[in-house]
Amino acid sequence: MSAPPRIAIRGDLLDFTGEPAWGDSDSIAVRFRPDHWLLVDAGRIAGVEAESPGEGWERHDHGGRLVLPGFIDTHVHSPQIDVIASYGTELLDWLTTHTFPAEARHADVAHTEAAAALFLDALVAHGTTSAVVFPTVHKQSVDALFAGAEARGMRLIAGKVLMDRNAPENLRDDVASAERDMKELIARWHGRARLAYAVTVRFAATSSPGQLALAGRFCAADTSLYLQTHLAENRAEVRWVRELFPAARSYLDVYHGFGLLHAKSVFAHGIWLDDADRAALAAAGAQIAHSPSSNLFLGSGLFGWRAAEAAGVRVSLASDVGGGTSLSMLRNMADAYKIQALGGERLTAWKALHAATRGAAQALGLGAEIGSFEPGAAADVCVWDWAHGQVASRRAEVARTLHERVFAWMTLGDERNLAAAFIAGRKHYDRT
Ligand code: GUN
Ligand code: ZN
Repeated sequence: MSAPPRIAIRGDLLDFTGEPAWGDSDSIAVRFRPDHWLLVDAGRIAGVEAESPGEGWERHDHGGRLVLPGFIDTHVHSPQIDVIASYGTELLDWLTTHTFPAEARHADVAHTEAAAALFLDALVAHGTTSAVVFPTVHKQSVDALFAGAEARGMRLIAGKVLMDRNAPENLRDDVASAERDMKELIARWHGRARLAYAVTVRFAATSSPGQLALAGRFCAADTSLYLQTHLAENRAEVRWVRELFPAARSYLDVYHGFGLLHAKSVFAHGIWLDDADRAALAAAGAQIAHSPSSNLFLGSGLFGWRAAEAAGVRVSLASDVGGGTSLSMLRNMADAYKIQALGGERLTAWKALHAATRGAAQALGLGAEIGSFEPGAAADVCVWDWAHGQVASRRAEVARTLHERVFAWMTLGDERNLAAAFIAGRKHYDRT
């Protein structure tokens, strides 16, 4: 790829310099630079200026639009675009009725390559430029996803799904083949371009103790590997895991016992946890990928964000498509607010936006690369209309404070607000 040109993007620049406190709608961690120019050189943020830069910069004038770091979706399933919005089931039935049949189709290379391309383009068209992704149990689904991300210059974390029991035959691996496939995939992809490998345990119920031990050995052998899995999402699932692992103190303790709880662990959901679990997550520096639209759609439960935060647990935001109903992080933020409201809490726009940008980046150990406009960071940048349609336009017009305006944008907006997306300084999406 030839070097991207020096570009300058004009708009209302918003990012974070710290972590907003719970409930603080006037946070000093917010960095808002209205009508500024974001300078990008060789794919990286070079600086911010109030005035238009001189000759030698390709100008992208988005004056009057909101400019944010690209969103980071910390938990999403690439093969599940085909089952998004499937009617009528809770988690365990949803997996067998809708999801496993769709994932089985990824044994076919042409199918998985086409699905990966569609998925990655859709992510970007929703304003998400980095993601932590579950493909399928098939090695070729990982190759297709990583190759597609590399071609687009995206930061992507993924790995072959491990499941050697309690799954249909055509989706099961075994310990020996999993070890072989993981070794090969890690050698091919981990650390290449902007890609990293995640040891990907579907959830405790679909891996044998022998396979969980294998996953733990990989994590111990190379601490630069991520670990992704599901945790305490649904009450029937939690009961089932308790039956399968009667010696474990809790669901999280199953993972802990196999060496899967560490600073690079990304646990989706984490709804049904207790104080000891939260303390263990915090001590390990692990993160919960809160998946609001999925938790509502599958009727899984209401995530206690404030309790997690009070315990010192890192919380990022995720779409969990296809359990989730939208790749739009805005729609997921709006759902996150409603979940907190049902629990008697209020989620500020700052907390939500931070969790989808700088907060997720830091939790992934990627704070220098993604999630902010700090000089040197990759120029993953999204440009948003402040409002789409009559109602949102009127609401934006009468907003009195920055938080009010951004909160209305977050609550009323979706992918239709996205005007342009840049990945490492290259334009990958342009609505016009
Ligand atoms: N638990 C195990 N697999 C899945 C999945 O694909 N989606 C969700 N939401 N939960 C899971
Ligand atoms: Zn999931």
